[in-house]
Amino acid sequence: MTSTDPAPHLPLLARPRRNRKSEAVRSLCRETTLSADRLIYPLFIHAGENDQPIDAMPACKRWSVDGVVEEVGRAQDAGIGAVVLFPAIEAGLKTATGDEAWNEGGLVPQAVRAIKSRWPGVTVITDVALDPYSSDGHDGLVGPDGRILNDETVAVLCKQALCQARAGADVIAPSDMMDGRVGAIRGALDSEGFTEVSIMSYTAKYASAFYGPFRGALDSEPKSGDKKTYQMDPANTREALRETALDEAEGADVIMVKPAGPYLDVIHRVRAQTNLPVAAYQVSGEYLMIKAAAASGWLDERAAVLESLTGVRRAGADMILTYFAPQAAAWLAEGGR
Ligand code: PBG
Repeated sequence: MTSTDPAPHLPLLARPRRNRKSEAVRSLCRETTLSADRLIYPLFIHAGENDQPIDAMPACKRWSVDGVVEEVGRAQDAGIGAVVLFPAIEAGLKTATGDEAWNEGGLVPQAVRAIKSRWPGVTVITDVALDPYSSDGHDGLVGPDGRILNDETVAVLCKQALCQARAGADVIAPSDMMDGRVGAIRGALDSEGFTEVSIMSYTAKYASAFYGPFRGALDSEPKSGDKKTYQMDPANTREALRETALDEAEGADVIMVKPAGPYLDVIHRVRAQTNLPVAAYQVSGEYLMIKAAAASGWLDERAAVLESLTGVRRAGADMILTYFAPQAAAWLAEGGR
């Protein structure tokens, strides 16, 4: 007997490898699918005339209003039907009360109108939170003692949401983590007849190191303190389930978990608890970890991106926000997985 002879006593009843023997068989047995129509593309915009590179996030741009309209067109051609907008607000417009957030002629309303008039079929999602507009760099109003004021913030978030709905946003996405904002925004939208405008709630948004590059892209780093009194402790899961129950009761249409990759267990448990659709946000730091490793030649970018997104779907996310959206869609169209 040589060392490569088959072992003599192996009447194996189960050979799981049979279900992996060819791509055709693997396709039949595949439990999770990834497709472009589950991806949402986050886009940075600014008030300037030209599209700008973003030092903190190579390969992403800060689009002008004209530029973002074109980029949304390209993304649609790749199969992406939904975008979410994040504004880089010039320093001179940032104030302690973030009033620019509900300026009807502001950057976000302008961009929403421009995108919807050129591409009426695209789903435009807008972010509700004060950080891009706040001279303090916080998602809420900062009180005299440095604490983030909850109920006062919720009142202004309602103004911001209404301003976005009037501009034509399809989905309002509060990312601020104040208590009670989903119910308050729902009430404000309904009171102006925007009963068709959806709320995608950042339900379980953790106080994460992985948001660093995003804050660089918007220049929205908190000026003092951190976001731990409103964003969740990364150590907690039951708290995510509690937030899910509250957002569901307050009328959220979609529940989001953020970040995605380090929180797959949270996605899974939220998925099991709610009948609402679940979204997950593959955030800027997750994006750049893959980008940096690929640029160093350490990872195959295409394979790593598709695997990371498949993992998020497998955990239970119906939809994924990812900066890779158009690229992933193009790879999927080529038959990648
Ligand atoms: C702020 C907001 C953040 C992100 C989306 N909305 C950053 C933060 O909470 O500080 C992060 C997204 C990313 O990192 O890609 N309202």
